[in-house]
Amino acid sequence: MTLATEPQHTLPPLPHWEETPEDLGAAIRAIKPALRARIEASGRTVAEVFAAAERRVEERIQEIEADRTRGEEVWPVIDYDVIRAGAVRPAELAKLARRGCLVVRGHFPREQALAWDADIVDYVERNDFFEKYTGPGDDFFGSVGSKPEIYPVYWSTAQMQARQSERMSTVQTFLNSLWRHTSKDGTQWFDPDRDALYPDRIRRRPPGADSAGLGTHCDPGTLDLWMTEDYQKAFRHVFDGTVESYDPWDAAHRTTGAQYPGSTMCSAFRTFQGWTALSDMNADQGVLHTVPIPEIMAYLLLRPLLPDVPEDSMCGVRTNQVFPVTKRWHPALYRALSPIPDVKAGDSVWWHCDMIHSVAPVENQKGWGNVMYIPAAPWCARNERYAAQVREAFMSGSSPSDFPAEDYERTWPDRFPPDALNDIGRRGLDLS
Ligand SMILES: [Fe+2]
Repeated sequence: MTLATEPQHTLPPLPHWEETPEDLGAAIRAIKPALRARIEASGRTVAEVFAAAERRVEERIQEIEADRTRGEEVWPVIDYDVIRAGAVRPAELAKLARRGCLVVRGHFPREQALAWDADIVDYVERNDFFEKYTGPGDDFFGSVGSKPEIYPVYWSTAQMQARQSERMSTVQTFLNSLWRHTSKDGTQWFDPDRDALYPDRIRRRPPGADSAGLGTHCDPGTLDLWMTEDYQKAFRHVFDGTVESYDPWDAAHRTTGAQYPGSTMCSAFRTFQGWTALSDMNADQGVLHTVPIPEIMAYLLLRPLLPDVPEDSMCGVRTNQVFPVTKRWHPALYRALSPIPDVKAGDSVWWHCDMIHSVAPVENQKGWGNVMYIPAAPWCARNERYAAQVREAFMSGSSPSDFPAEDYERTWPDRFPPDALNDIGRRGLDLS
């Protein structure tokens, strides 16, 4: 059978909710039959379309298992110097597009990363953070433990130097450019050469730590992925029976629309989530895992439409919590769950914004587990909107509005000052 890239028939309309529906159960009961009707207007059943998405994922899982059997690293690993020189080989680019994740070796010199880690310790100690710390401000990372492993600190010199560095900008531009940012009609969905400065926290997990980790989940949204007009357009091929044409690297309609607010929501559009290692970490010490299949979202969005899922359920997805991925609904995906390779301080780790990830549990951790969260969040309508709030938080030393209003740094005199911003930092905050 040949499938047209664009559907050749009139599509039944979908209801949409640009704000969180008041009655979530009713909205779910309304959207599911509407999505099924739209898919079936293509002449294929929902079961056939889901099977096509499943086959695509199954092929990827088998490739990942074959890599493991051959002793090959599942995660692509590329040296910073190769990216900087524009010398990434086509085979490496192809693997990166297939896996949707990357370790950048030597993104920063090791001594630089270790110095940043020490600077952060000095910064929080000088400001009596540990005496003032009143416990986790949210219940997401809060489940990790009562001692602060996640520092709600955003404006240290170390973090800002990394965010506005030439090296960070080079890697962000490289990663942004893997996406199709401009449509055929000329609409530019984001600017790959300019990143919005997205402030996030620090994790410092000490030697000997026990951690329950974080379960498998993904972060790009919750029910809004099925229910808002722009996401329905972004996932148009998933919802119109042409799932083979779904391209996880197409940014169309991802950078403009509404989102359902929640404590785990990220206001920014991120091409990749990421962090920079501030300590050496071995792959068996409670590290990040991903299901390295960027097109997984097609599978996850179609799964609740099958008849074994209760009619008021989206396989456990609710608003105001992360999108859960569970053995109950998605058992095959666990075969692909792959840890990052061992990393050294100064390496950085990146994964496509849709991808399933988790943090493994660890007991009596060997060595530190320290990271600085810095994603790739290219300039677009959504990120420009959020940048206004970031700018205000930067000036006042507040916690950015995506995070609990803990505001520890407001009174800290030695946070990163505005006159130390370079061109990249000013552009990232829209101060240029
Ligand atoms: Fe996450």
